[in-house]
Amino acid sequence: MKKGERKVSKKTVDLLIENASEVITLRGGSQKPLLGEQMKNLEIIRDGSVAINEGKIVCVGKTSVLRPKFEGEETIDASEKVVMPGFVDPHTHLVFAGSREDEFEMRIQGSMYMKILEEGGGILKTVRETRKAGGDELTEHCKETLDLMLEHGTTTVEAKSGYGLTTKEEIKCLEVLKTLNKEHPIDVVPTFLGAHAVPPEYKDNADEYIDLLVNEMIPAVASHKLAEFCDVFCEKGIFNLTQSKTILQAGKQQGLTPKIHADEMTKLGGAELAAELEAVSASHLLFASNGGLRALAEKDVIAVLLPGASFSLMTGRYADARKMIRWGVPVALGTDYNPSCWTESQQTIIMLACRQMKMVPAETIAASTINAAHTLNRARVVGSLETGKKADVAILNVPNHRFLGYRFGTNLVDRVIKNGKLVVNDGKMT
Ligand code: NIG
Ligand code: FE
Repeated sequence: MKKGERKVSKKTVDLLIENASEVITLRGGSQKPLLGEQMKNLEIIRDGSVAINEGKIVCVGKTSVLRPKFEGEETIDASEKVVMPGFVDPHTHLVFAGSREDEFEMRIQGSMYMKILEEGGGILKTVRETRKAGGDELTEHCKETLDLMLEHGTTTVEAKSGYGLTTKEEIKCLEVLKTLNKEHPIDVVPTFLGAHAVPPEYKDNADEYIDLLVNEMIPAVASHKLAEFCDVFCEKGIFNLTQSKTILQAGKQQGLTPKIHADEMTKLGGAELAAELEAVSASHLLFASNGGLRALAEKDVIAVLLPGASFSLMTGRYADARKMIRWGVPVALGTDYNPSCWTESQQTIIMLACRQMKMVPAETIAASTINAAHTLNRARVVGSLETGKKADVAILNVPNHRFLGYRFGTNLVDRVIKNGKLVVNDGKMT
């Protein structure tokens, strides 16, 4: 070798993705959620490449830059495709038995969701069915759901209990989540939602149920480390502001970070409460007051918007995403997967967010990845394609990111890589 000449040896990595028409990196959002105009800047690399080794991302850049440096044990040619972080779904009611297609038909014909619940249907119907189901049966059902989620590009999912509503039954559902997290490729992040509804046993004595939540259920869940978050359905006729505060504070004292279902059907002040308690996120927010939204922005509480719920409830009302983004409220998007809003697909949520809440595709992508990761305290680990992060990657069969939301009704996912492993190929689990 001549003097001054150096042989450049290539580093061998497990997997090299190259030639992507766009690599959506979303870099720079790991410390704080993307706000306002930042949501439109996805930090896209054209003709991009991602090098992956031992489950982690080791380098992201132009194909022309990575190719001389890395050799892949396996290589994926992502020509004409979009490479992006796997979706993070920040709000699901994953564990339930049965279904409610009868109520769906009733809602089409004019019945109201809350009226159905008052009459013992809705959440309470699902509670009856879930209590009857064994843990193994629930686990199998959830695995099928998670398979579908993965095939649709979701690699991390938040999952709430909330259809057990006794200490034993809630623990049964949280144990199912623990098993799923171990046995399924998707990361499952558990939330305790014992305060989803007042169970029939306490129909005329909600405060006694709150005592049970505070003194028995929350301590049991926390001591067995079965949940990271505590959530409440704060709504007129469910849990009022005072009750919600008591429950969330009890959770917080036991190390469960507060989340809240807030101002979904009435302007109750749930957004204000979320800010006061410094909840990590507040979901729904269709009726949140201006003061409530300002408070969320001030306290960095993430608004988790769930247009699938609005679409399924058919009231015609959606959260005011434009105002929230304008005012600097951090915004995330979730499926709200549950028996009254049964979709496993974050892509469906994105297409609804574009059409019904006037979010542009870039904003919906930020809301479904890095901002959603912040609601789970996992933004340092997932939600963007950056060196050192988990190699959770979705490859979409579209030439640019604007096709997300634009093209709808079919699954746009070609491949999914989870922890560096190819788990979905040609849209199907491997
Ligand atoms: O987020 N609003 C409360 N909980 C769910 C619905 C659960 C159900 O209907 O079973 C939601 O929309
Ligand atoms: Fe919910």
